[in-house]
Amino acid sequence: MTKGHVLITGGAGFIGSHLVDTMLSRGFEVSVLDCLMPQVHGDADLDADGWPVYLNAGARRIKGDILDDGVFAASLDGVTHLAHLAASVGVGQSMTNIVDYTRNNAMAAAIMLEILSKGHHQVRRMAVASSMSIYGEGEYRSLANRENVTPTLRSHEQLARREWELSDNGAELEPVPTRETKLLQPASIYAVNKRDHEEMFLAVGRALGIPTVALRLFNAYGSRQALGNPYTGVAAIFIARLLNDQPPLVFEDGEQKRDFVHVLDVANAFATVLENDQQVWEICNVGSGQAITVNEIALTLARLLKKNIAPEILGKYRVGDIRHCFADITKLEQLFGARPQRQFEEGMRELIDWVATARKPVDRSATSMAELAGNKLVV
Ligand SMILES: NC(=O)c1ccc[n+]([C@@H]2O[C@H](COP(=O)([O-])OP(=O)(O)OC[C@H]3O[C@@H](n4cnc5c(N)ncnc54)[C@H](O)[C@@H]3O)[C@@H](O)[C@H]2O)c1
Repeated sequence: MTKGHVLITGGAGFIGSHLVDTMLSRGFEVSVLDCLMPQVHGDADLDADGWPVYLNAGARRIKGDILDDGVFAASLDGVTHLAHLAASVGVGQSMTNIVDYTRNNAMAAAIMLEILSKGHHQVRRMAVASSMSIYGEGEYRSLANRENVTPTLRSHEQLARREWELSDNGAELEPVPTRETKLLQPASIYAVNKRDHEEMFLAVGRALGIPTVALRLFNAYGSRQALGNPYTGVAAIFIARLLNDQPPLVFEDGEQKRDFVHVLDVANAFATVLENDQQVWEICNVGSGQAITVNEIALTLARLLKKNIAPEILGKYRVGDIRHCFADITKLEQLFGARPQRQFEEGMRELIDWVATARKPVDRSATSMAELAGNKLVV
């Protein structure tokens, strides 16, 4: 007797595949629906049918695109729990491939929800992957009066002057952990899509009486990350550069703060909210709760890889990039009892060990940089 049957869209991907393992180990039957995007899986070791070899053999596999007629409906057979992770995930790329991104990230959600709204299924709980990118800038506090403020995004003029930090009418600001209540200021098409699909799932889930949780993931890292895809995962991109004896390329001055969360902590967050039986429609951050600068990541990785290579500080900025954002993770713990277990350095060591056993990553930074510069998205 299983605890239920979970369908994981994007289950062959980085986070989805770990969620497959976690749900199987928790006693669920698992189906994976994935179209095996070449940009994601092109560099991985694949089996004869094109599935990544790391994918757990215990899961049922459905190769198909959610956007294609009938694919999602046919995947719902016997499904009681839905984890929606399939998406196009490149923030920079979303600013040029706007139609494709909106189709895959928002239209796909519409297709799924319309099918669910027509009934003929047993789905009784949903979890959906949202992203910290929908916040735009993280939360800040004024050093003058200690009050939290929501600053506007940095202007082109400010960035052109290479003034990276935010201020509020001249007052200095310090970044503080970002809560779910912060005003959303999505600054890329990817972020707009993620905000939309989060709200679409919550609205329809509520209307249909299907408890739904949107998890706003911060920067996930860990094994199975697409190492050759230049549009995602800064840690993987830096490792690929370092392994090719090239310096990690750092935008702005490298002092921007992010929150890196281990992929197993992300999988645990999904599994915990799916297994829980509270009748809720909630949004929760999933992060480590620790702020770390991009320079610190580059230096830590170089040290762990025993490479005497300093990051190359480009002093350039990417249109749509934010300065600081790291998670306040109290809500997920208070509501569901889930908290991250892994420390940053331990996690990075694991990532490096995995890279050593994976295929030699292709460093495509130069191509992606040229593409972004050509489209005036790196200045
Ligand atoms: N990795 C992160 O740090 C991070 C941060 C915030 C949010 N997220 C979100 O988490 C989810 C998973 O991200 P990931 O890093 O594992 O990405 P990934 O690219 O490794 O996995 C996504 C998977 O979805 C599949 N897919 C894409 N479109 C599809 C479609 N139309 N039909 C079927 N399959 C499709 C791809 O083939 C791929 O296997 C995404 O929704 C992403 O937006 C990730």
